[in-house]
Amino acid sequence: MRLLLATTCLASLALTAAPALAQTQAVPVIGSGVPATTAKNSAERPIGFATAVPADAALVLLMADKAVPADAPLSPEERKGLEAALSAAGFAAKANETVSLRGIGARPRIVVVGLGKDAGSKAVMEAAGKAAQDLRGEKAPIAVVGAGNGALMADAALGYALGQYRFDRYKVTTGSAPSTAPVTIVGAEATAAQAVWTGRHAATAEAVRFSRDLSNEPASTIYPDSFIARTREAFAGVPGVSIEVLDEAAMRKLNMGSILGVGQGSPRGSRLLLVTYKGSEAAPLAMVGKGITFDSGGISIKPGSGMWRMKADMSGAAAVVGAALSLAKSKAPVHVVAVAALAENMPDGNAQRPGDVVRTMSGKTAEIFSTDAEGRMVLVDGIEYVAATRKPAAIVDVATLTGAKVTALGDEYAGLFGRHEGLVAAVQAAGEATGEAVWRLPLHPNYADDLKSDVADIKHGTEGVPPGAGHGAHFIGFFIDPATPWAHLDIAGNEMSDAAKPLTPKGATGYGVRLLDQLARTWKP
Ligand code: BES
Ligand code: MN
Ligand code: ZN
Repeated sequence: MRLLLATTCLASLALTAAPALAQTQAVPVIGSGVPATTAKNSAERPIGFATAVPADAALVLLMADKAVPADAPLSPEERKGLEAALSAAGFAAKANETVSLRGIGARPRIVVVGLGKDAGSKAVMEAAGKAAQDLRGEKAPIAVVGAGNGALMADAALGYALGQYRFDRYKVTTGSAPSTAPVTIVGAEATAAQAVWTGRHAATAEAVRFSRDLSNEPASTIYPDSFIARTREAFAGVPGVSIEVLDEAAMRKLNMGSILGVGQGSPRGSRLLLVTYKGSEAAPLAMVGKGITFDSGGISIKPGSGMWRMKADMSGAAAVVGAALSLAKSKAPVHVVAVAALAENMPDGNAQRPGDVVRTMSGKTAEIFSTDAEGRMVLVDGIEYVAATRKPAAIVDVATLTGAKVTALGDEYAGLFGRHEGLVAAVQAAGEATGEAVWRLPLHPNYADDLKSDVADIKHGTEGVPPGAGHGAHFIGFFIDPATPWAHLDIAGNEMSDAAKPLTPKGATGYGVRLLDQLARTWKP
């Protein structure tokens, strides 16, 4: 009856609907309130190990030389066909050189990937990652042969896992589900390979996937609270892990005016998230990540073109939490605290202004020259909190901090700053070991003069005066006790790749997860 009245008479509709409307308005909806999808990313191929090639599998041959090896698992006619095809294609076995063939013998497909002259760990990982990308549309199960010993077979598995990553949960009507038929890494030392995979690499693969997902997600999905929810989900039930979250009220009590100032223009609250993994009794390594879930620039608003990339401005936070996940899931004998300094940088009537002065948790004050230099502001309160409450043996911060870093180094190398030679060397070694490259940039004492403020203890940057990346590093260092080893990684540009590379499909790279995982395992105070 009410329904009938409502549809026939507008006045009665207004009367009957009024209480419900008032109720809706009492609970503010942030964003549209309509999630773009409830789907997950499509399932990836599971990865296993064996000593023999499964009968129906497409074959991936990793080759260090252009001659087909004598022990390659091929029938005489498959060998003959393959040799003819490779010589016709001029295959030279250069690193990541690929030849893809169909119609040879009984195999649905044979993909040959070159390993180059150095058929070591990095070459095997990349070749497997390249194969994973080339075989994206393949339906059949896959067998990878030619990696080498057990350790290299496990590397091939990690390479395949990183290369096959996809972010397709929003392709609701245009996507087609990729094959989930298994990948088998084949070789004599399958048992040893399996042990390395389950003991370490599988956790790393999962952590990189976790980190990439967070960075690829739009800012409508990932904001401080949902970043925390995803983290809780990923660490649920993992032994040795504890999670602490500071909301705005808790941060206000601690006078964290610096991180709160960045978030004050957004209806999403700022948060400080700490994930501790205690796998040893040593003092922890603190890893502090910039977690700007969207960086519009704030009142110092960015130009529109390319602004969408700033959905990944939380990649430092995703890297540190990812590294903790990798370490915890592989039960590494280390103690780490990952700190995600989370906020959304938006213009608003209540947003921070250029010229504002903020009080940081340390008690030091800072003058805002541009609200777009927000990363350093969230970091210093996160660093102060972890330094004060956890007494870390060292602090490494990771941030998509400056466009100046991209200008200086591009997107292969991260910019490394530090004033503790032992820690700098350890970060460099971890970069070498994982292939996540770093390049050291200098910290000059005179940067202090550039950042003198007329009204506060320090200014957080300068108007167009170089070096922008160095000034960012100096500002962060100003808040750190010189007795604590500290390094700063500016990963601007490293977090997203515009073109697919063997281990990083187009999009978020998960840069830093593997480097920090390696650093935590190797660095000794
Ligand atoms: N998130 C940006 C830096 C960035 C640039 C990350 C390109 C990834 C790719 C950062 O917050 C920023 O806006 N930095 C300013 C600093 C300046 C105002 C001192 C910049 O680089 O222009
Ligand atoms: Mn910015
Ligand atoms: Zn930023």
